Amino acid sequence: MHAPPGMSPQAARFFELQEILLACEGLWRPAPFHVRRPGWCETRPELAGHALGLPDAEVHRLAADNAALIDWIAAFIPELAALRRLIGLPRLDASRTEVSNRLGWQIPGRKLAQVEAFAEAMGAPARAVLEWCSGKGHLGRWLASRWGVPVASLELDAALCAEGDALARRARLAQRFVCADALDPASARHLAGRHAVALHACGDLHVALIRGAVASGAAALDLSPCCYYRTASAEYRPLNPDARLKLGRDELHLAVTDTATAGARDLRQRDRGMAWKLAFLNLREALAGIEPARPFKPVPAAWTSLGFEAWCRRLALREGIAVPAHYDWSALEAAGWARRREVVRLELVRHVFRRPLEIWLALDRVLYLERAGYRVRLAEFCDRSLTPRNLLISARR
Ligand SMILES: C[S@@+](CC[C@H](N)C(=O)[O-])C[C@H]1O[C@@H](n2cnc3c(N)ncnc32)[C@H](O)[C@@H]1O
Repeated sequence: MHAPPGMSPQAARFFELQEILLACEGLWRPAPFHVRRPGWCETRPELAGHALGLPDAEVHRLAADNAALIDWIAAFIPELAALRRLIGLPRLDASRTEVSNRLGWQIPGRKLAQVEAFAEAMGAPARAVLEWCSGKGHLGRWLASRWGVPVASLELDAALCAEGDALARRARLAQRFVCADALDPASARHLAGRHAVALHACGDLHVALIRGAVASGAAALDLSPCCYYRTASAEYRPLNPDARLKLGRDELHLAVTDTATAGARDLRQRDRGMAWKLAFLNLREALAGIEPARPFKPVPAAWTSLGFEAWCRRLALREGIAVPAHYDWSALEAAGWARRREVVRLELVRHVFRRPLEIWLALDRVLYLERAGYRVRLAEFCDRSLTPRNLLISARR
């Protein structure tokens, strides 16, 4: 469906993205982790051959750069060059204001930089602030100090509320904590007439914020969404009636698979975890005939220290797979690493669509707010190296 005439630029972008995503479902829905050769490998052998032949350095470069990924695939599928424009958003890299060193207490460095970037990008609050799912209320404390506005920080975890309260008292700021469940419809009353803010609120939590802000008449809203897949429902429930993509948790996860901020150690662990799990899929198929598409529950991280063979045996026991006393474990592990090499290359094609999907999801929220009468802007509040979840939805009455 094309954008109906007279629609806002955000709606036009939403429809254009939706059309491309619908047309290319075959490229982003099958996950190479579970599907040995996604169907597109047969229909686009040139692309598959090129992907599988990429050297490691090129795989790393492409995996870390959404625009480069699009340029890469557009050499094979020229229509996809349009995605470059569709994922381009204004960057609100305002110069940072050092509020007070005292505010940095107990805020990890990267979080402090995110708080500062978010706060500067949203500008002066229109009203008293309500911080949604605040944790210790770092953002709220920063806003109370920078703008001298009263801040209420809503958080479920009483221990975090108490810690946040102590930090606010120590800085002598007008910030109080409301220990409440954001998913309880009664919590929306705290939003009435307020400037609501939320830094990195997960799936259902930020949807409750958006719905609550509209229902109770929040004056303004600044939100950076994250973890779209953290929802009670296994199927995505769009916020606006024009949304036509059917998304499950796996696809919602795809929108946030970008790991720009992971350290070298985390990346090594992630690589090994993937290779071992792929090895286990081989083992399970060989011993029990179970196809790799069948998922298994997450594996406790602590099992890794057992070493490969014991890790596999433990997982097989949990999954009810009988393993013989003797098995060629080193060949199995090598096969896992070889599969991983293929998977990360084939996944590049899927990853072309992760930022478009994330922006489509953000626009679903934007359009809902526009329909409710807000002026809405979608922008990036910082570089993705600070956090890849750098989208900022700003709505004003
Ligand atoms: C991803 S953290 C973000 C915290 C903070 N905004 C930040 O960026 O540091 C999400 C926060 O939501 C809180 N939370 C989770 N479920 C909640 C609920 N149902 N109601 C209120 N807060 C909740 C968690 O305790 C956690 O502090």
